[in-house]
Amino acid sequence: MELVFASNNQHKVEEVQAIIGSKIKLKSLNDIECHDEIPETGDTFVENAGQKSRFVFERYHLDCFADDSGLEIDALNGEPGVHSAHYSGSRDFQENINLVLKRLEGKIDRKARFKTVISLIIGGSEHLFEGIIEGKISSQQSGQKGFGYDPIFIPEGYDISFAEMSAEEKNEISHRAKAMEKLIQFLNSQLS
Ligand code: IMP
Repeated sequence: MELVFASNNQHKVEEVQAIIGSKIKLKSLNDIECHDEIPETGDTFVENAGQKSRFVFERYHLDCFADDSGLEIDALNGEPGVHSAHYSGSRDFQENINLVLKRLEGKIDRKARFKTVISLIIGGSEHLFEGIIEGKISSQQSGQKGFGYDPIFIPEGYDISFAEMSAEEKNEISHRAKAMEKLIQFLNSQLS
């Protein structure tokens, strides 16, 4: 079985291929020669993930899935949310972190969560999978690993940030890993 992962990030595609195993052959957007800028204009992760998977399905008539992730902070009414990648107006991780810390100055409620939604279109029907990791935003950044908001996110039950964890440690508990696990379980149940 072949399945398109609507992502340009070859690293992400290879990582997921390694978890899925050889029963399903994943193809990236590059592999199907899709070089369009796929629109992501929704107000929710569900809308954006669905927008991307539908785009591929409608143009290429292939089974596919797409993911959308971000950080939701309670004291900022769920921001940065779908604007996580360019919250400050720039895609620079440090500028986005600076803006979050500035907007949280003096706020006691630091509760936040990372969320991933995966939209899978298989045989023309959409299936959604969600992964969430609860935590809080620290007052100062710490750690050098990972990407994005990792240096200011402390997962529940830990006293270190995502950026202080090894990739293996983060991958055991992350929002993305949880959503991917659900997707893989579903795919395996379809194949057996
Ligand atoms: P994407 O949908 O996976 O590309 O994520 C969109 C944006 O959310 C990224 O550019 C990051 O700013 C933020 N983000 C998503 N997942 C993570 C994570 O695991 N750590 C830190 N930031 C993340």
